[in-house]
Amino acid sequence: MIKRGIAVVLVLFLVGLVAGCGGDKKAAAPAAKGEYKAQLKLATLTTASHTYNLGANKFAELVKERSKGRIEVKVYPDGQLGKGERELLEGLQQGTIDIYVGSTGPIGNFSPSMLVVDIPFLFRDFNHVDKVLDGPIGQQLLADLDKSGLKGLAFWENGFRNLTNSKVAVKTPADAKGMKIRTMENKTHMLAFKTAGLNPTPMAWSEVFGALQQKVIDGQENPIAVIYSSKIYEVQKFLSLTQHVYSPAVLIVSLKKWQAMPKEDQEMLLKTAQEMAKYQRKLGRDAEEKQIGELAAKGMTVTKDVDKKAWQDAMQPAFAEFAKQFGKDKIDAIMNTK
Ligand code: PAF
Repeated sequence: MIKRGIAVVLVLFLVGLVAGCGGDKKAAAPAAKGEYKAQLKLATLTTASHTYNLGANKFAELVKERSKGRIEVKVYPDGQLGKGERELLEGLQQGTIDIYVGSTGPIGNFSPSMLVVDIPFLFRDFNHVDKVLDGPIGQQLLADLDKSGLKGLAFWENGFRNLTNSKVAVKTPADAKGMKIRTMENKTHMLAFKTAGLNPTPMAWSEVFGALQQKVIDGQENPIAVIYSSKIYEVQKFLSLTQHVYSPAVLIVSLKKWQAMPKEDQEMLLKTAQEMAKYQRKLGRDAEEKQIGELAAKGMTVTKDVDKKAWQDAMQPAFAEFAKQFGKDKIDAIMNTK
């Protein structure tokens, strides 16, 4: 009898122990419909006037309106919440940052499948970009982010990247041979530039302006909207419209915060992020021509007749490595999307 009593106590104790362990691992249950309240911090690395933040401000406005004031998004531009993209992405994983808008460049370090979109000369034009990123390939890349504690809601846009430098007007890779060019912490970009004969130097964005000013590096590459809003013209004389790679951006929510939201609010955030993707992409695209003119007016020598074929040819040997890494089928599927 006593033995049976001890056995029962032991079983109850073990059951309690197992239940307790499981409880720790479970995500917090989402709040009930209409009751969830939150103040969410949205971080970017670009200046307040850049399209990420113009899009983010409008996103915040709509989220507040649609949640009837229960969800407030506060936008922190210009690296206020962290100096580099890696740091901000780690903040999302830990839940110290709630939302982030930034280029896919460093995201591949967290979710390797994302690196495929950073292959040079992969996208033909904006129409091609929209078809791929809003279609099944793009949606799968966003879904893959879940495995890294990140909830990708929509592709926003950084843009086609262009080379700037302090030395010479660059048309071909031969003109830029050996130049120390800052790249993002992105293996795909670094390999492409190295293959083309340049000297890629990865660096967090917040360090780039100072490094260009002090001539620690010769150049950098970014879309026009970034070159313009970050005043790169103050420290770089030459701009070449190389458009060597399209740089998508992603609006990401911390998966921890996402799982704590009721389904209705998740759906509203998702819909708003997708709507704002269209708005934000259009802002940059519409402004580009005018901003190129303004960069010239501010003293930059703008090289428009870049030999794109020479850049493509020079980066071509890296494609064997990209095919090995991502699969030729995947690359072809993107390139053949119409
Ligand atoms: O070059 C970069 O690091 C990115 O393009 C930037 C400027 C942070 C925008 O996402």
